Amino acid sequence: MTRRNSGRQSGKGGGATTRGPSGRSYRNDTGLTRQPKKMRGRKPSSQRWLTRQLNDPFVAEAKSRGFRSRAALKLEQIDNRYELLKPGMAIVDLGCAPGGWLQIVADRCKLGSSGAVLVGIDLLETDVVEGVEIFVGDMTDPEMLDKVRGAVGGRAHGVMSDMAAATTGHRPTDHLRTTALLEAALDFAIEVLVEDGFFVAKCFRGGTEKSVLDIMQANFTTVRHVKPAASRQESVESYVLATGFHGRGGWSGSEAASEGDAEADGKADGLADTDTGYSPI
Ligand SMILES: C[S@@+](CC[C@H](N)C(=O)[O-])C[C@H]1O[C@@H](n2cnc3c(N)ncnc32)[C@H](O)[C@@H]1O
Repeated sequence: MTRRNSGRQSGKGGGATTRGPSGRSYRNDTGLTRQPKKMRGRKPSSQRWLTRQLNDPFVAEAKSRGFRSRAALKLEQIDNRYELLKPGMAIVDLGCAPGGWLQIVADRCKLGSSGAVLVGIDLLETDVVEGVEIFVGDMTDPEMLDKVRGAVGGRAHGVMSDMAAATTGHRPTDHLRTTALLEAALDFAIEVLVEDGFFVAKCFRGGTEKSVLDIMQANFTTVRHVKPAASRQESVESYVLATGFHGRGGWSGSEAASEGDAEADGKADGLADTDTGYSPI
């Protein structure tokens, strides 16, 4: 099986070269050209995953820049476009392991020198990120959520969720489970966000999240779907970004815009950017 990786392509004749976001080149005429060494004894799905990782320009990019996950690049791309993260903010990261998003937030909110507060939670252990309070536990457990709420001081400028349920291989089930996590994250966001706060969360496209989107539209000025370049094109993964929290709960009548990847498209498809700003807590 061959697949193209998601970097930009350049080059002449038959020898097309894919360049990663750092400008590094990848041989890519035939898709996945490098094979992991130790494949024997692995399940086909694991072999595919390893091969994809090895040939993914964003994996290489994340590694070379010292990020703990390629997911870090997704948040970086979203923030480059929408300028959500600012020094001094209080941010909650739900499903934070291994910590790529924490690294981006710590840097952009100038954790340690600006009064910014950053709190993360994950089912798995996350290695320390200087200045970040990290909990190990299930964010759907009210006791754990109380701890997170306490650590951020009850109010946050931004709530982020990259949570994904462990996959079962049955797509509708996986979709429902990840949507349930999205719902739980949104509940928490509505509870703690300050006026004009933002919410960004992983969201699998496929219909059932409509009711969740309705709640977002009722509580935020603008709701968008965002597919950063680092999110694999073939993946059903997308992100929903809600800005301008007002928490009035009623149907705001504001636009819900669905957006393709601005980097890949090279344009914003006529979407008006909202100046989210933020108010100190
Ligand atoms: C895609 S990873 C997050 C990657 C992270 N954003 C980064 O940049 O490194 C998704 C995480 O969600 C976590 N997760 C899933 N369900 C959760 C739950 N109920 N409570 C807390 N974390 C959860 C998983 O353990 C997993 O580590």
